[in-house]
Amino acid sequence: MEIELTVNGTPTTIEAGKEADLATALRAVGYKGVKCGCDGGVCGASKVIIDGEARMACGMPAREAEGSDVETIENLGTQDDLHPIQQSFVDHFAVQCGFCIPGMIMEAKDLLSETPDPSEREIREAIDDNVCRCTGYQKPVEAIRDAAGRLDGGGVATDGGTATGGGTAAGGDHCD
Ligand code: FES
Ligand code: FES
Repeated sequence: MEIELTVNGTPTTIEAGKEADLATALRAVGYKGVKCGCDGGVCGASKVIIDGEARMACGMPAREAEGSDVETIENLGTQDDLHPIQQSFVDHFAVQCGFCIPGMIMEAKDLLSETPDPSEREIREAIDDNVCRCTGYQKPVEAIRDAAGRLDGGGVATDGGTATGGGTAAGGDHCD
């Protein structure tokens, strides 16, 4: 089936099987920043922002994203021009293996757009379903706290758009 949605500001049509999940569908068209960790909606690695809310894409049937506005990590900075949240993670040494980081940053972006000056507790609550086996969470919390200041209370910064749509997601039950 064809699913029409907007990904990172680009109208996109994805061919996906009826049972395909959104994480698989997005990865199939090149958004590899959407990670598949647990494939069970519990690790947070597949988080993207859907219609303004951070959600785990692996737990959502792709067909349910029809008409949605989806943002992935690819919509943030580039290697040479990181988004302030990404730069803050780098500056605070909050990235180790990096696997969990796209999902954590998308959650942080959602948090900071709604709560521009979050407390440490609010940050910890926001990322409490983002599993990280490397960092112990303290440095990501510090990075998000600092990012709030860099965003000057707005949660919005210059987002660089990337990637074009078009592709096929196999209709399996598991994100891959
Ligand atoms: S892969 Fe773990 S929440 Fe989606
Ligand atoms: S940095 Fe390795 S899982 Fe989080």
